[in-house]
Amino acid sequence: MAEDLKINQGTKIENYKTLIPQIVALIDGEPDLIANLANIAASLKEQFGWLWVGFYLVKEQELVLGPFQGPVACTRIKKGRGVCGTSWQQAKTLIVPDVEKFPGHIACSSLSRSEIVIPVIRRNEVVAVLDVDSTALDAFDAADKEYLEHTISLIEWH
Ligand code: SME
Repeated sequence: MAEDLKINQGTKIENYKTLIPQIVALIDGEPDLIANLANIAASLKEQFGWLWVGFYLVKEQELVLGPFQGPVACTRIKKGRGVCGTSWQQAKTLIVPDVEKFPGHIACSSLSRSEIVIPVIRRNEVVAVLDVDSTALDAFDAADKEYLEHTISLIEWH
């Protein structure tokens, strides 16, 4: 497996379409969850240049910081708190076009302006969330929801 990621410079959808097969190749045959989450976060950050891309894992009724790329972040988030805790509670993807307008948003970085959080659901339980932050307002749309949900469906959860 080549460790170099091929970065595409097309439309967002074209970029997802060239990135996702590379993510499949990166995680193929690797059973270690943390290694795979780390490479997924790195691939997304490298292709799209977002401020922060990472996972929070559900551990004993809290979200605990997992593999990520970007500035240091808060370590634990309670259910129902912030965008991540709300996505966990509602078990659905949340797109926040302007974080300042989301009540209870947890500002890990003052540079974050918009955010998308996708829950990872296995056997009807949220086991983690993927959180992506952008320095641009309104950076995420239905295409991000579709392709990021697809990306996390590729992860084998142990
Ligand atoms: N903004 C998130 C917290 C996590 S950081 O952005 C990395 C939230 O409101 O849940």
